[in-house]
Amino acid sequence: MEQLVPGPLVGELADVLLADDRPAPAGRPWVMANMVGSVDGAFAREGRSAGLSNEADRELFHTLRAVADVVLVAAGTARTERYRRPAAAGAADTGLAVVSASLRIPEDQPFLSGPGPDPVVYHPPGADTSSVPAGVELREAGTDPGRVDLSALLADLADHGARVVLCEGGPSLLGQLAGVGLLDELFLTVSPVLVGGDQVGLVGHGGPYDVALGLHRLLRVDDVLFATYRTRHGSA
Ligand SMILES: NC(=O)c1ccc[n+]([C@@H]2O[C@H](COP(=O)([O-])OP(=O)(O)OC[C@H]3O[C@@H](n4cnc5c(N)ncnc54)[C@H](OP(=O)(O)O)[C@@H]3O)[C@@H](O)[C@H]2O)c1
Repeated sequence: MEQLVPGPLVGELADVLLADDRPAPAGRPWVMANMVGSVDGAFAREGRSAGLSNEADRELFHTLRAVADVVLVAAGTARTERYRRPAAAGAADTGLAVVSASLRIPEDQPFLSGPGPDPVVYHPPGADTSSVPAGVELREAGTDPGRVDLSALLADLADHGARVVLCEGGPSLLGQLAGVGLLDELFLTVSPVLVGGDQVGLVGHGGPYDVALGLHRLLRVDDVLFATYRTRHGSA
């Protein structure tokens, strides 16, 4: 792995990423996101992000999980990508938080069991929780009965001790965070393919907004680029 920005990599990538400063803003954790996309901005290939990933990207994925206190994922991605608990994939101290309005959690969802604490499923107030399977902790966030308030969710995670949250998507969740100024750092793996199709747009289609980014780090493995951006408000 070669570091192009800010200069040659000194030491192991995991140590470098761990050492980066991530000051928690007032009342909420530092929020970073990790996404992989094609050169034309596709977030999935045949419905899954795995079609865009590669070995180095998977290594970054696991390294970032170890940096985070909590992985935050939208229910759509958790269902599609068959999410497990981070501890089941080696991140022993990392929790999982899921955002859902429907509370549609399949009985065979892998995160319902395994090592580590039960995932926290955030839902809007008044949601029908009667058919939610065992193996999760339910928490309300916000006052809108149709959607989870992400500021309230992050404040709750901070109250429970989280200082760094890693959002793993999907695009609609990432777009909501970016649109209301709740994204501090974005890790973007650019996979060297053009895939076309309509699964394009790493932040979904909820905008428009205008979030200024600064290039914090740029790594390269062969033809794959790994860019880290920090939002201007989140610059350390
Ligand atoms: N390239 C990558 O790095 C990457 C990363 C992640 C995902 N993906 C891909 O992205 C696709 C899925 O993304 P997506 O944008 O369609 O969906 P998504 O963001 O993963 O999930 C949308 C769902 O999340 C829940 N949700 C999101 N915001 C909410 C809020 N504020 N309040 C309550 N619930 C909320 C709702 O769940 P309910 O339906 O339960 O109400 C909603 O239907 C998949 O193909 C996946 O493979 C790619």
